[in-house]
Amino acid sequence: MEDKNMLMIPGPTPVPESVLLAMAKHPIGHRSGDFSKVIAELTENLKWLHQTKNDVLMLTASGTGAMEAGIINFLSPGDRVIVGDNGKFGERWAKVAKAFNFNVEIVKAEWGKPLDPEEFRAKLSADKDKTIKAVIITHSETSTGVLNDLETINKYVKEHGEALIIVDAVTSLGAFNIPTDEWGLDVVGSGSQKGYMIPPGLGFVSVSPKAWQAYKTATTPRFYLDLGKYKKATDEDSSPFTPPINLMYGLQVALQMMKREGLESIFSRHQRLTRATREAMKALGLPLFAPDTCASPAITAVAPTVVDAEKIRSLVKKKFDIVLAGGQDHLKGQIFRIGHLGFSGERDILTAVAAIETSLVELGYDGVKSGAGIAAAASVFAGK
Ligand SMILES: Cc1ncc(COP(=O)(O)O)c(C=O)c1O
Repeated sequence: MEDKNMLMIPGPTPVPESVLLAMAKHPIGHRSGDFSKVIAELTENLKWLHQTKNDVLMLTASGTGAMEAGIINFLSPGDRVIVGDNGKFGERWAKVAKAFNFNVEIVKAEWGKPLDPEEFRAKLSADKDKTIKAVIITHSETSTGVLNDLETINKYVKEHGEALIIVDAVTSLGAFNIPTDEWGLDVVGSGSQKGYMIPPGLGFVSVSPKAWQAYKTATTPRFYLDLGKYKKATDEDSSPFTPPINLMYGLQVALQMMKREGLESIFSRHQRLTRATREAMKALGLPLFAPDTCASPAITAVAPTVVDAEKIRSLVKKKFDIVLAGGQDHLKGQIFRIGHLGFSGERDILTAVAAIETSLVELGYDGVKSGAGIAAAASVFAGK
């Protein structure tokens, strides 16, 4: 049906109508007093969302741009960095670090499994000369639906004392509790088309005082992504370059909505949606790609064995106008992924589960007990 698309991918995520309407205004001058007020409000509310007093900087970039900025501003060529790689995005940060000639050591785990914090502890505690300058971790690995144990890995980074912790929170920020200041996270990157509930185009990086110390001596070349420029401008309620003004109008409304909902309620909603989705898939006899113990709050990856993943995905799209994500790289055709990030609620999950079940039946899979998926999701929503 025309204009009926329901996005259930891990980004872009659905955008509330009030946010869309807020963006449908004439842009104003980004050097005007009125726009300074917008930046001041956004900065204050971003700090609230990030649970930090650190700088939270806005870049005209996608999540990758935010992460690249977060990596290059605090390191120099030749620096020893440890990168966690258990999926597409961990792999990407290793590529970025190599592109800038850092001395990269990879801690790997199979796709679908979490990174082992013990491997980080071993490397960090053996580093008596403090040669490790940074540990780079993807918190929620979107390609597999795995949530890595950032809290424990960060604890070992803190025990090391020198290394910075640089976090890809692209699909965990605004979905999972990340107390930046309490945990002492140095650099946290994220992107607008995820938990922020606005379209793509803005990247966010939070920077700790310790990271700013490292910035002073870091020699990696940078210009547009030089975070010092963003800090100086943000301190004056301004931006170094022309920002995406209309996206920022949208962000104003989205952050106000999030504040009204409250952080705890946002996190528990994501937990509830994750559990309901997972229980429903189990009830339909569809195996989950990541274990319950490390389930991403943003995305559930499903690895059907008896029915082709792409057939389910395309039928759900064709029949119900619900867009699910496919697998990436070697997981193409092996898994489909259900997004439940940002502006996502119980109704969305019930609809998606019903659509998946109907599609399974239509595809001739007779292992489905009628209504089993909905019953499982409903039982989670009923608090059972
Ligand atoms: C965990 C994670 N990191 C980084 C990115 C890259 O973000 P972008 O596509 O906005 O550059 C994504 C995008 O899906 C992601 O899920």
